[in-house]
Amino acid sequence: TVLVVDFGAQYAQLIARRVREARVYSEIVPHSMPVPEMLAKRPAAIILSGGPSSVYADEAPSIDPALFTAGVPVLGICYGFQAMAQTLGGVVEKTGLAEFGATPLTVTGTESTLFDGLPTDLSVWMSHGDSVSAAPAGFTVTATSAGAPVAAIENDEARLYGVQYHPEVMHSEHGQAILERFLKVGAKLAANWTMVNIVEEQVELIRERVGDKHVICGLSGGVDSAVAAALVQRAVGDKLTCVFVDHGLLRKGEPEQVERDYVAATGVSLKVVDAQERFLSALAGVTDPEEKRKIIGREFIRVFEQAAAEVVAEAGAHGEEVEFLVQGTLYPDVVESGGGTGTANIKSHHNVGGLPEDLQFKLIEPLRKLFKDEVRAVGEQLGLPSEIVWRQPFPGPGLGIRIIGEVTADRLEILREADAIAREELSRAGLDREIWQCPVVLLADVRSVGVQGDGRTYGHPIVLRPVSSEDAMTADWSRLPYDLLARISNRITNEVREINRVTLDVTSKPPGTIEWE
Ligand code: XMP
Repeated sequence: TVLVVDFGAQYAQLIARRVREARVYSEIVPHSMPVPEMLAKRPAAIILSGGPSSVYADEAPSIDPALFTAGVPVLGICYGFQAMAQTLGGVVEKTGLAEFGATPLTVTGTESTLFDGLPTDLSVWMSHGDSVSAAPAGFTVTATSAGAPVAAIENDEARLYGVQYHPEVMHSEHGQAILERFLKVGAKLAANWTMVNIVEEQVELIRERVGDKHVICGLSGGVDSAVAAALVQRAVGDKLTCVFVDHGLLRKGEPEQVERDYVAATGVSLKVVDAQERFLSALAGVTDPEEKRKIIGREFIRVFEQAAAEVVAEAGAHGEEVEFLVQGTLYPDVVESGGGTGTANIKSHHNVGGLPEDLQFKLIEPLRKLFKDEVRAVGEQLGLPSEIVWRQPFPGPGLGIRIIGEVTADRLEILREADAIAREELSRAGLDREIWQCPVVLLADVRSVGVQGDGRTYGHPIVLRPVSSEDAMTADWSRLPYDLLARISNRITNEVREINRVTLDVTSKPPGTIEWE
């Protein structure tokens, strides 16, 4: 394992992902973890992340020097680099030469573990106010920039390395190469973390844990639960029963993808609960977004509990006890960040469509260590349909929060058709993996005058909300090509009679959220 020590910037997760892209397993630990505890994890290497502080700030996190004498290879990045240089006797100064953004870097060392074989002039991503002005004893300076006289240091004997810039961001040329050189040449690690390994390891673990018990899993139609369930079914076969609650708020074709394609690809035994009527009547007359979310969440739990009770009874009839529940929890939801108080960063209001914590099952969470892109790779490895593996994020309350106004069967039908057209055109343009997601929102309580065919119409506007994002915490509106927007608009107004106007949402997040409700 490579430990990525999180000093509180947003870069630690990115570094961990890059290390895994180099096929070396990595985990994030908060900087507040005592060094002996880090070393007890027997890390093969340690990477110190960037952070928001100056090493001179009052609350600046420091580093226990024991980290550098344990014989574990270390790479310090940005703040991690400065803190390392200072701890080892180098000089960090406020030179007044701050550098932010793309910066020219010159490789100076003739022999360098990090830069060997790379061009001597690189454009790299910097973000620092202080600079290291003198390297600690025993280190060679191997790169420099205008604002960072000491921009990279190396000590092969001690296997300690540091760079001022951010090799993990895509704007740094050959950044991945430098991380890989640290891992493979500096730390002499083998690249053996692959999706095949993950699948085999998890299948083994799950099989052992489940024994002769029965397992239940809720499928939402999303990537995470689909991959988690497929892994568990690979491990225990018929001892898994999946429950799919069709609440009628999914998009066109999605229930069929679960009920038909997913089942064909995985062979899971699936229990489908058609709860469309129930959700519609619970939502009748409701227009307030928070109330909609509460109702959908509440109904979902009730329906699922009922279905789970049936699974328990059916399994019991075969003499099997249902002991486990599968959840598609991902690494970003469980990792302790070094930034705040060290609590998990779960977005509580996004748990709608989730399950209560007091279900009397033990949890199986086979994706707990994985990032989203790894989950997709595992899904492909397991042969899941690509419509499911590459599905964009979709909220638990589904189309219920994309109809502004009361949710009715007719309105759902209109929105489903319009949304299907937008999705089809986006994929035809090859953009659906590029944009983060594109909610299509029906302004059901708004009417607009139009002329369609020969007559005046009085229909509804629809909003396209394409966004680009890294993690949904912030987002920007996607600059889709005009001709693509034109195609979507033409098709929707021609093919969906009730819609006579297509509009584009050009608001970033913040201030707008991604969803309208
Ligand atoms: P917002 O609208 O808050 O959305 O910018 C951020 C991301 O979360 C998704 N989202 C949800 N996901 N249950 C979910 O599982 C929810 O209640 C929910 N609300 C929003 C949204 O699609 C976007 O990706």
